[in-house]
Amino acid sequence: MEKSKPVSYSRTTITELMIPSYANFGGKIHGGILLSLMDKVAYACASKHAGAYVVTVSVDGVNFLQPIEVGELVSLMASVNYVGRSSLVVGIRVISENVITGEQKHTNNSYFTMVAKDEEGKPKEVPFLTLETEDDVRRCLEAIKRKQLREKFKDDFDNEKSCLHLDEDLHLLDGQRIKLKKKLIQ
Ligand SMILES: CC(C)(COP(=O)(O)OP(=O)(O)OC[C@H]1O[C@@H](n2cnc3c(N)ncnc32)[C@H](O)[C@@H]1OP(=O)(O)O)[C@@H](O)C(=O)NCCC(=O)NCCS
Repeated sequence: MEKSKPVSYSRTTITELMIPSYANFGGKIHGGILLSLMDKVAYACASKHAGAYVVTVSVDGVNFLQPIEVGELVSLMASVNYVGRSSLVVGIRVISENVITGEQKHTNNSYFTMVAKDEEGKPKEVPFLTLETEDDVRRCLEAIKRKQLREKFKDDFDNEKSCLHLDEDLHLLDGQRIKLKKKLIQ
């Protein structure tokens, strides 16, 4: 029988205190710090499901909806939403909490695609995923839709890109806050 692991087996939460050295010049937490924490929790979750070393291949949906302040506690909750042959999609929900007031804010949801590797660095098959709850099913169906739309977007964009002509498509700049250096125009 094929090996399968339930979503709950690899569900992972990391909580980290936002210290002053994480802040940007505006005093808010640097986006790169959050990305690094998201990558860390995605790695922990995906490698636990895969039982193998994994690498990050792509990231979807990184939108920072609200700023995070120094002193807040950030929790990153990750679970495997979908598995392919060697790839895993890890959904991450990020919550930031002011420990004094108890106020919580949802700062973002992101989806990391990770690929399991064998000892030779080749993509390695991962266990099947057993969905245990309605939320697991919803997240899995959403991941499949996202994958389909991304593939369609890639095909459409590659097609549009190959049809772009610098001389014919300059009208795309109309109404944009973009200026052309005169000598660039033939
Ligand atoms: C991603 C990578 C493993 C693909 O290797 P490959 O030899 O082309 O292997 P495959 O074509 O068989 O793809 C392996 C899996 O990755 C998936 N994949 C490849 N590129 C992808 C992308 N851009 N987005 C999502 N999934 C992708 C494939 O769909 C496949 O999934 P499946 O096995 O579940 O069907 C390889 O390009 C790699 O190692 N990249 C570097 C990753 C890395 O080092 N990340 C750290 C950041 S520095």
